[in-house]
Amino acid sequence: MNAQEKKSIDWKSLGFDYTKTDFRFTAKYSKGQWSEGELITDEVMHIHEGSPALHYAQQCFEGMKAQTAADERILLFRPEMNCERMRNTADRLSMPEVPEDLFLRGVTEAVRANTAWVPPYGSGASLYVRPLLIGIGENMGLRPAPEYEFRVMVSPVGPYYKSRGLSVISLAVSDFDRAAPHGTGDVKAGANYPGGLYATRKAQELGANEALYLDAAQRRYIEEAGSANIVISTTSNTLITPKSAAILPSITRRSIMDIARVDLGMEAEERAIDLREELDTFVEVAACGTAAVLSPVGKIWFDDTWHSFYGNGEEVGPVMQQLYDGLCQIQNGEREDSFGWTVEV
Ligand code: PLP
Ligand code: COI
Repeated sequence: MNAQEKKSIDWKSLGFDYTKTDFRFTAKYSKGQWSEGELITDEVMHIHEGSPALHYAQQCFEGMKAQTAADERILLFRPEMNCERMRNTADRLSMPEVPEDLFLRGVTEAVRANTAWVPPYGSGASLYVRPLLIGIGENMGLRPAPEYEFRVMVSPVGPYYKSRGLSVISLAVSDFDRAAPHGTGDVKAGANYPGGLYATRKAQELGANEALYLDAAQRRYIEEAGSANIVISTTSNTLITPKSAAILPSITRRSIMDIARVDLGMEAEERAIDLREELDTFVEVAACGTAAVLSPVGKIWFDDTWHSFYGNGEEVGPVMQQLYDGLCQIQNGEREDSFGWTVEV
């Protein structure tokens, strides 16, 4: 497809919002079997009022991005890992797993059918891909749904945090917990998120972009932000990231840890990080995820004050800049993908 056939959109001014595209992929699970799946045009889902997704939040989702490379290839980033995570989530929520071939076909078909909506190379935007798995069908009691729908919707998006390019954000430690130690924080259940809307509002009242959660048991260890994991470069040139059974295993974060090791020659450690005890060793902090990409965190609010990092909390430091560049260049095909992470659609 050539560039003329793209939709006429001001790609550079897109935010992280929903734009209706032409097609979405849907497959249904009933009586122990997945349907073949198909592309449809209707963006409205017609589901039974008794659907467990509506009452008991028996549903989950994934998030990934498709990007256009300079040579016009459309690239996905580690889609098999999203599939694996959706499988783990489905298992935890007593939903049937979406087989890998169905998951990847759904994602691929939804992206291909909406090629005109995939932002062009260099626009700074990407096509966000949102696979959903929801429990549907007639139900009242608390038990797994009789049927399920797997849907893949897509939307062109710009940056998650308002400003363009690599900008510095701030976080405020929340008085609320995101996930219990043995709860569902490590899977991508939609139910993990609505409680965070209030926490985010409270963080934003303090002037922060998002809430930062500490561990629910002791309120000492860093867990993650509302929509992203955390990475920190330290005074000993190590990249550290919280180890916790209650946070989402971010695909972006796992990739960034590898880039730090291989490209930057840094030690990269996943371990418990005590916010107050270790604060003095933090040099650069960032939030990372599919939507957030890598967003440097200039300052964190806790104990009634702001604590700033690199450049007085106003500048992007060299480690996060290099990690951001390394990640984005692999994702948009600018750099040889020596890790074998990208998949052409
Ligand atoms: N943490 C939370 C709570 C998220 O919602 C996300 C987004 O998916 C992430 C972390 C980042 O995960 P990933 O890098 O796989 O997108
Ligand atoms: C993602 O980064 O893909 C997410 O799902 C985070 C979401 C809260 C926007």
